[in-house]
Amino acid sequence: MPDLVKKVTSKDFIAMKANGEKIAMLTAYDYLTASVFDKAGLDSILVGDSASNVMQGNANTIPITVDEMIIYARSVARACKHSFVLCDMPFGSYQISKVDAMANAVRIMKETGADGLKIEGGEEYVDTIECIIRAGIPVCGHLGLTPQSVKAFGGYGVRAKDDAEAEKLLRDVKLLENAGCFAIVLEKIPAALAARAAAAVKIPIIGIGAGVDVDGQVLVGQDMLGVDPSFHPKFVRTYANLNKIMTEAVQAFSADVKAKTFPNENESY
Ligand code: KIV
Repeated sequence: MPDLVKKVTSKDFIAMKANGEKIAMLTAYDYLTASVFDKAGLDSILVGDSASNVMQGNANTIPITVDEMIIYARSVARACKHSFVLCDMPFGSYQISKVDAMANAVRIMKETGADGLKIEGGEEYVDTIECIIRAGIPVCGHLGLTPQSVKAFGGYGVRAKDDAEAEKLLRDVKLLENAGCFAIVLEKIPAALAARAAAAVKIPIIGIGAGVDVDGQVLVGQDMLGVDPSFHPKFVRTYANLNKIMTEAVQAFSADVKAKTFPNENESY
């Protein structure tokens, strides 16, 4: 499978859109999971700040730090021979000042081996995003439901349902393209609006809860693998039931230990 060993680049994202090839992206936060995704030929792995929820059990993405993101991203990047590794800049790492944002962006790139960074927000952060891109770092934007603003939004509802927010989103999409972003994630917005955004720019729009008429899709890996049956928003399709598989495996192990049938002779020295 010679194609699988070619590393996907930010330029490939734009070429894929031009060629009509959809981009598949999942989140991962650890080496072994990233190895499986990479070997499966996934285009891109997002080391999302959703690690705050998924790996740490926090209620939102606000608490996760640059230091913590670096540990997750470094582990994922080590595994990826093929998949483009995109790392989230966490809350507080780019909002304070351009200088601070540059320092954090450079640090994440130097210490992780990630291939690019994702930053939430449009007009408000476009100057900062431009500086980071000027330093040679590929940046993916993120608009719509930007989870770092959950406290301002008052929840995780669908964004840009009214005309004013929809128009701002379309303006922000163009601003981010002009700033040099290589892609934009659009989260939880009406499908028709996402389709308009995708048609308006040459860079790929990666949707999550944004309908099918965009240039790619991203999901949280644990969500699509069915690790947490209590979390199933409408936009998630579950492709496996890892919760069931893991629960049954743990129960079988426990039973074997208690019955003294594990380890057997072949499993002993
Ligand atoms: O952190 C994350 O997982 C994300 C995706 C939801 C796009 O930003």
